[in-house]
Amino acid sequence: MSSFLSDNIDEALGCWKAGGLVAIPTETVYGLGAPVDREDLILKIFSYKERPFYDPLIVHISDKLMAKNYVETWDPLTELLTEKFWPGPLTIVLKKTNLVSDMITSGLPTVGIRCPKNKQTLDLINALGVGVAAPSANKFTKTSPTNKDHVLHSFKDDHLCILTSDEKTEVGIESTIISIENELITLLRPGIITQIDIEEALKGEKFQFSLGKTAFEEKAPTAPGQDPIHYRPTYKLELMEGKGQIIEKEGAEYVLLDKDPYITARELYLLMRDPLKKSFNRRVFVLPESRHQLNEKEKQVWQSILNRLVKAGKWV
Ligand code: TXA
Ligand code: MG
Repeated sequence: MSSFLSDNIDEALGCWKAGGLVAIPTETVYGLGAPVDREDLILKIFSYKERPFYDPLIVHISDKLMAKNYVETWDPLTELLTEKFWPGPLTIVLKKTNLVSDMITSGLPTVGIRCPKNKQTLDLINALGVGVAAPSANKFTKTSPTNKDHVLHSFKDDHLCILTSDEKTEVGIESTIISIENELITLLRPGIITQIDIEEALKGEKFQFSLGKTAFEEKAPTAPGQDPIHYRPTYKLELMEGKGQIIEKEGAEYVLLDKDPYITARELYLLMRDPLKKSFNRRVFVLPESRHQLNEKEKQVWQSILNRLVKAGKWV
């Protein structure tokens, strides 16, 4: 078997019918998808990705109406946030209904739901009529894919239709994940939708915002389903603060990251996947000191980038 590219939704649907998976483009990263009601294919996601069963999948839907099939609660906070940010890079963890199998949620009573912003993918989910369970389309602990070639590279010998799209992965890092439980919102994975964005969207509402265990720790240990090793490139990656004059060491390729966190997020995985030239044995990402002068929201986006970087590389 080998994977193939297609921009045709019927071909993608046909691939699921024939027992394959479909890689879906989104505004964040590509996903490796299967219909929620196809346990045989959900199983295949874990085996293609070499992902352990303790790490739950999120469910992608095409609109709020579809989302409501999969969650027990839909309170005013959920309504306001989905109205404001969907389609877009916000995943909301809520109590699941029994249309979502334990295989998808790793036995958890909750499910992460997300409405991606990509026309091809929304049309596909719409045509399918049910949600699509999909993790990022990379091997477990490796760097997420931001274009079709990245997906092809990881899964070329698998039964997979890679749906192509004219739209780019403009966000570049995975969605923000929050859980909503009564009036408590917990940030489980930071992304480009920040705490400030969420608080603004909920102005005047009664709620508390709390940071999940690892959400903002730059030297992060584990939270459920979030391994300390993650987003790993194939070479040694180091991180350093861009303070003062940098004395370049031999064998290392130095890359100064853009101070604009939206640009850095968008380019990050592309940069991480760029193979090292023969003369180098490691890459050093230099963090621009000027990022400390940005506004609070931009600083939060930088925290989201760092959340990935500290799992992908080491401070030097
Ligand atoms: O942007 C994204 O979210 C991409 C695109 C494809 O949509 N998807 C993605 O999926 O990043 P994945 O599986 O690579 O990351 C989802 C994270 C996992 O770390 C998983 O542990 C966590 O979400 N997760 C899923 N369901 C959860 C739940 N019920 N409670 C807490 N965490 C959950
Ligand atoms: Mg992932």
